[in-house]
Amino acid sequence: MARSALLNVMVQAAMKAGRSLSRDFGEVQNLQVSMKGPGDYVSQADRKAEEIVFSELSKARPGYSFLMEERGAVEGDDAQHRWIVDPLDGTTNFLHGIPMFSVSIALERQGQIVAGVIYNPALDELYTAERGGGAFMNDRRLRVAARAKLSDCVIGCGVPHLGRGHHGNFLIELRNVMGEVSGIRRMGSAALDLAYVAAGRMDGFWENNLSAWDVAAGILLIREAGGFVSDLSGGQDMLDSGSIVAGNEVIHRALLKTLKKPVSAR
Ligand code: IPD
Ligand code: CA
Ligand code: CA
Repeated sequence: MARSALLNVMVQAAMKAGRSLSRDFGEVQNLQVSMKGPGDYVSQADRKAEEIVFSELSKARPGYSFLMEERGAVEGDDAQHRWIVDPLDGTTNFLHGIPMFSVSIALERQGQIVAGVIYNPALDELYTAERGGGAFMNDRRLRVAARAKLSDCVIGCGVPHLGRGHHGNFLIELRNVMGEVSGIRRMGSAALDLAYVAAGRMDGFWENNLSAWDVAAGILLIREAGGFVSDLSGGQDMLDSGSIVAGNEVIHRALLKTLKKPVSAR
């Protein structure tokens, strides 16, 4: 599969950061059984991965702006282009030695996501998409799953935790969805969750309180794999609202409806 020069730049940055995370992940697996735990070490691994992505992308495309989880917004001379980067998505998994984490890089051009790369270094799975060019895992073209009934579907979600999100609202959403589907998963990396929907491994996904860097690349992957993505109100404000619902056309619509079922209808 021939990749564009732009996608090559993104893939190189994601894989280089991924290799650094892989090396640190090996050490985390040793540290995590110690009393002190690997907390500080993980923050360092995260910052190191971000530094790699930042330096690779700045070298290849000088002047582009950035939105990165650790650094925040970095204004470049070129305000038309913005990289949206999560150098380590799935930090809690990483910290606990669970090999389900990723590097996520998206490129926005004039407010539109035009390219996305998500890399899981532990499984060496590389997801790429460019607007109009389809979505791929390694060299394989991706399509969202074709299931049309929620009762056949495995749906991913994010679960709020200590100090994060609205626990009561989530329980209502979960109760609505779990009564209608064949399985629910909580993988712990929103970027990979979206990549899994693009790959047809999960039929749908929803989560609230996310950040732009968690979802930007995944949104494009799903669209390019023929899927549908919206915020929880059915609009297209995913990056700013932090809420997201995804699936094929039918499952996306059904999920939106189910999530919003009034309490009395349950
Ligand atoms: C988190 C992961 C997780 C999601 C959280 C995110 P981080 O990102 O994507 O799956 O449920 O809301 O904050 O902190 O690991 O980069
Ligand atoms: Ca994240
Ligand atoms: Ca992160």
